[in-house]
Amino acid sequence: MNVSLPPFAETAPELFKQIAEQLSAEQLLWLSGYSYGLSVAKQAALLQVVSPQTSLPQNAPTQELSTNGLPTLTMLYGTHTGNSKRVALRTAERAQEQGFGVVLEDMRDYAPKRLKQERYVLLIVSTHGEGEPPMAAEDFYKYIHSPRAPKLVDTRFSVLALGDKSYLHFCKTGADMDAQLENLGAMRLVPRVDCDVDFDDDAERWITSVLKAAANTINENINKTINKTTNTANPAINLSITHIL
Ligand SMILES: Cc1cc2nc3c(=O)[nH]c(=O)nc-3n(C[C@H](O)[C@H](O)[C@H](O)COP(=O)(O)O)c2cc1C
Repeated sequence: MNVSLPPFAETAPELFKQIAEQLSAEQLLWLSGYSYGLSVAKQAALLQVVSPQTSLPQNAPTQELSTNGLPTLTMLYGTHTGNSKRVALRTAERAQEQGFGVVLEDMRDYAPKRLKQERYVLLIVSTHGEGEPPMAAEDFYKYIHSPRAPKLVDTRFSVLALGDKSYLHFCKTGADMDAQLENLGAMRLVPRVDCDVDFDDDAERWITSVLKAAANTINENINKTINKTTNTANPAINLSITHIL
């Protein structure tokens, strides 16, 4: 049989063969899981970032940006004076550095029907008026509170709310969106964080914790898949490879 190999260096197949010959069946099975984990991590680093300047067509499903079944983080910001956008950009940069796929969009441009296709949603939104959403987030806010809003049982989310404690309705828009996504069945990655005017440190803490939580859920999914594969391949061998991911 003529099997075409991936583009390894010329000597690599021979080298792999020599190593493989010295390994037991169990060790080979472990190695396949290990390679799979490495491959997933490398592919994650290749996932695409969509900046506000190159945003997706209105109804394009986010999953198109993922390869190998890996989720992409969809970040939506609702802003009036630009603070939420700045924090969203910082979150996107950090997520990209860590190898996540990222979709970053202004709520004003986001077709909310796409919500039901999202698996990971991060909302960064301020409050204006007397506890109202910024104008750019009004349609999104209305949609998720309307009877047209979909069930979001497969969605994980978190909200960063920007506001000002001197107002009566502190961070109300973020709080409303947070509660409503939960009502629609979505699961929180980490609790909402409400930020006062000096929001940098709180935003930083939220970014760190939400990305960590998202990475953990991805690892959980990978481990489930690997365990399923190894158990199916040989039910007698139940290898734990969690530590290598
Ligand atoms: C006219 C006006 C009304 C505001 N109303 C509220 C409010 O009701 N509740 C609140 O928590 N913050 C309120 N804020 C504070 C903003 O939410 C805060 O400055 C935030 O950082 C702005 O973020 P953005 O630039 O993303 O819009 C208000 C700010 C302005 C200028």
